[in-house]
Amino acid sequence: MAETLERPATLADWARRARFATASMSRLAWYGAHRYASRRIDQRIGEDYPDFRISAPEGPVPSERRILSDIARLQTADLANVEAGHYPMPAREADGLAGLIKRARAYYADLPDTAHRRRRAPETETASNEPYYLQHFHFQADGWMSEVSAELYEFQVEVLFNGATAAMRRQGLVPLSRLVRERDQRKLQYANIACRTGNMLREITRAFPRLPTIGFDVSEPYLRYGRKLTGRRRDRRLAAALAEALPLADESLDAASVVYLFHELPPEVRRAAAGELGRVLKPGGLLVFIDTLQMDDEPDYDGLLEFFPQLFLEPYYEGFVREDLDALFAPHELKREEA
Ligand SMILES: C[S@@+](CC[C@H](N)C(=O)[O-])C[C@H]1O[C@@H](n2cnc3c(N)ncnc32)[C@H](O)[C@@H]1O
Repeated sequence: MAETLERPATLADWARRARFATASMSRLAWYGAHRYASRRIDQRIGEDYPDFRISAPEGPVPSERRILSDIARLQTADLANVEAGHYPMPAREADGLAGLIKRARAYYADLPDTAHRRRRAPETETASNEPYYLQHFHFQADGWMSEVSAELYEFQVEVLFNGATAAMRRQGLVPLSRLVRERDQRKLQYANIACRTGNMLREITRAFPRLPTIGFDVSEPYLRYGRKLTGRRRDRRLAAALAEALPLADESLDAASVVYLFHELPPEVRRAAAGELGRVLKPGGLLVFIDTLQMDDEPDYDGLLEFFPQLFLEPYYEGFVREDLDALFAPHELKREEA
């Protein structure tokens, strides 16, 4: 829930609000424009596959207006969190406009391949005997295990969610900020599970610079890319590990975050990963859990939840959106914060 200033706003507050609004509007416009262009390109490629069909959803699909108004509410909450001191103003892209343009070019170079893979999926993306995590998730080249995806993924996700992804993840810093206010951050043990290239970890480090962090992910290419951005420090490690087999001692963590992972896991792996989180967190430890909406959370979005896994290879999504998360985590003594 967004918190607001408890005193009259000063000139400095209004200046900060103006900077925040300018930065977030530019971001939404930038990624929104790419979303529009991407759809056009995808539709054009779709004309080469007249037999390709996506099943119409039974539930309602939110209008663009509804989505934009939810994004606006998210921006308001994001600013309120900054004003409440939970985290600093979002950072600009470290490599500026030149970096953004470079990533946009790489994104458009890859887009047609992804669009073709989606339509050829019935022949090329069906079940294999390989471990589940080697599939072509999202129709990316080589799924998670790719240097190309390490570079492109953040841009792709921001285009998909109109530039709102980073703000969605930042909501997960609020419970951590409350913990850090109560405790000496240098003495806390914290891990980010399925950290990808460490993008959320870098926001966490900006907000809580003395908190030692470790990030785990199954993908070595993602971790290698992340290490280039994060640098190599003993208290900022990025290490290869599966969420369902964490290389950590029992009851060794005060807090963990798991962001957009569980919908990617087969049901039995979801259970194993929940068990591992229960094992490695101290009793009463904090679990920050962020993932997609589930069925009936927001009934206006239910149709989108049916539609989404058909567009992006998401083999376990349908099961996840119907998973009883309370039952999944019930055996484990965790303080779970959902965002
Ligand atoms: C949808 S991405 C989310 C990444 C990141 N948390 C974020 O918010 O951008 C899923 C991530 O989980 C990783 N992953 C998939 N299965 C995993 C597993 N069983 N254990 C650890 N990481 C896994 C992938 O390599 C990928 O980085």
